[in-house]
Amino acid sequence: MLPEITFVLYTFGQTSYFCSMGKDLTNHVLGLQLPTDPRWVNIAEMHMEEILVDHAYCEQKAASSCISLIVQFPDFPALVDMMTDVVAEEWSHFERVMEHLKKRGMSLGPQRKDEYVMRLQQVLKKGGSREDQLVEKLLMNALIEARSCERFKLLHQQIMDEELKKFYFELMVSEAGHYKNFIELAQTVKSEAYVRQRWKEFLVAEAEIMATLEVRGDRMH
Ligand SMILES: [Fe+2]
Ligand SMILES: [Fe+2]
Repeated sequence: MLPEITFVLYTFGQTSYFCSMGKDLTNHVLGLQLPTDPRWVNIAEMHMEEILVDHAYCEQKAASSCISLIVQFPDFPALVDMMTDVVAEEWSHFERVMEHLKKRGMSLGPQRKDEYVMRLQQVLKKGGSREDQLVEKLLMNALIEARSCERFKLLHQQIMDEELKKFYFELMVSEAGHYKNFIELAQTVKSEAYVRQRWKEFLVAEAEIMATLEVRGDRMH
């Protein structure tokens, strides 16, 4: 049995965001405005191969995105240091998903269209200073981490496969840490008030996207 724990992961402005491991599923993970449709985890469990493949690519994209940030913003040493660590973690997640696939006689297969991320990219403001652009990218990454964390929490709590349950618990904690990394980094680039306001706008936009995306059991998002 995994421990039943409740912890506050982060306090941002006036708000504390919870990632609760209790039975109460009503907590909004990391400030997300719209909890995942409860049907998703049941459908996902029936399509574990598809979920694992899509998940592997999510980890690859997370690593690639952090490498791109290093290449685009080498003049931000704190970013370079932080992203170097995150890339290593995301790549280790990719390796571990691959191990779970292979163990089950499954293989990677082609990358799937990621409608969630494509829609999120449309939320990013164009133009402005390099700092403005960097904050947009950091907050988008933070949002993907938050939603991934929420989905891992659901998988951990509800699927039957004990090995995967433990794996998703670990990933839930790890991605919540990355969420915190991205938000904290954004606050070193622009003021806390600016980041807080923009984060609220991102949360609202993400909830609108989630409300209109088809519930698919073959996608992590
Ligand atoms: Fe990851
Ligand atoms: Fe992550």
